Amino acid sequence: MYRNKIIIITLVLSPLVFFTNFRTSKTPTMPANIKQLLTKNTCMTCHNLTQRVVGPPFTAIAKKNYTAKQIMNLVENPNPSHWPGYPPMAALKNVPKKELEQIANWIVSLNK
Ligand code: HEC
Repeated sequence: MYRNKIIIITLVLSPLVFFTNFRTSKTPTMPANIKQLLTKNTCMTCHNLTQRVVGPPFTAIAKKNYTAKQIMNLVENPNPSHWPGYPPMAALKNVPKKELEQIANWIVSLNK
């Protein structure tokens, strides 16, 4: 009897656990190492994860479905026509490639 109860409880709860995990994985987050790269390279002065600051939120940029390569290129050669109503972003040509690559991959991952 006791065993049956446990089985029933497990059956009832497992979809709940599944959906909770599913939702957490969809919530955009900024891991500490990424935040450090964004701060070091001054991105955080103008960008926020979910809110408009000077520039658009990273979650909005992610919705444009760029590839990581395109994002890397747009940081070095911004195209302000992509963001009407925003001031143009200054070209940032001195971000180390490895760091820019990590940032770009993270932005792409926000849309997954
Ligand atoms: C001085 C403010 C400022 C800084 C610093 C800044 N940005 Fe921006 N960024 C903007 C603005 C404003 C826009 C929207 C207008 C534009 O794209 O020119 C933008 C747009 C973007 C876009 C979207 C490009 C597109 O065409 O859709 C990306 C990606 C981006 N920024 C990444 C970064 C990263 C990564 C850093 C740090 C290395 C950074 N930005 C630093 C202001 C800034």
